[in-house]
Amino acid sequence: MKDSVKILQTEISKAQKILDKELANKSYLKVLEVGCGSCSRLQITQNRNMVGIDISEKQLQRNNTLNEKIQGDIQSYSFPQSSFDLIVCWWVLEHLPQPEKALLNCQKALKEDGIIIIASPNVFSLKGIITKYTPHWFHVWAYRFIFGQQLAGVEDRAPFRTYLKSSISAASIKKFAQDNELSVEYFSPYESPKQIRLRKKYFLTGFLWWSIKSITRLLTLGKIDAENTEYITILKKPTQQHKIPSDKPLETVAV
Ligand SMILES: C[S@@+](CC[C@H](N)C(=O)[O-])C[C@H]1O[C@@H](n2cnc3c(N)ncnc32)[C@H](O)[C@@H]1O
Repeated sequence: MKDSVKILQTEISKAQKILDKELANKSYLKVLEVGCGSCSRLQITQNRNMVGIDISEKQLQRNNTLNEKIQGDIQSYSFPQSSFDLIVCWWVLEHLPQPEKALLNCQKALKEDGIIIIASPNVFSLKGIITKYTPHWFHVWAYRFIFGQQLAGVEDRAPFRTYLKSSISAASIKKFAQDNELSVEYFSPYESPKQIRLRKKYFLTGFLWWSIKSITRLLTLGKIDAENTEYITILKKPTQQHKIPSDKPLETVAV
């Protein structure tokens, strides 16, 4: 397995371990995958009911891990409240013009003691900024001719239209959690395998890469991170007895 792919596998395994620990006391899980696409990245070993929602009928047709399929928009779909133990939000927030609406929807649909896992690109990375400000046709071109995916953009296959709103930045997600009585149980930034492969191909490694990272940080006053292009985070809705006081500073929330 290529080193770059191993990094993603390691990140998924780390998040999976936290998830397994958090869900260990539950023998049955009601799971919702928002923007489920054609596949699921996480292993659910418990008895479960998997509900998947996606805006694309074609993506839903390709997905064979679900018990129930919903075609709909996660920004406006009315989910039953407090009804899911686990909500998976994997690589979808970046494709929404109003991700904050989808996040609120997920928060309401989550049971007490339930978990939301989010995987997202880092808007404030070089890759994030380039992706945000380049047109969709360029993304399709890059997937086909740089990453070798011949069917990119055909019949609702990736890449999907991207908005990368600042409301999905790491800081905004932590703020969202604090404002909506969710605790941040886990947060892990990492570099995308695609970027690593590209860097290695064009010899952007070692001192040269270190210089690019430092210059980026310097020129943007620390706002843009060249390396950490993605993150995975796990949020939890406390039970009534364990509500987070609303004036609790972010630094003291477990991360
Ligand atoms: C990059 S794919 C990720 C799919 C899957 N979660 C995964 O990990 O492979 C993004 C998915 O979000 C879906 N999507 C985009 N906008 C959506 C919306 N407003 N409501 C529901 N799904 C949406 C797309 O159709 C696509 O299947």
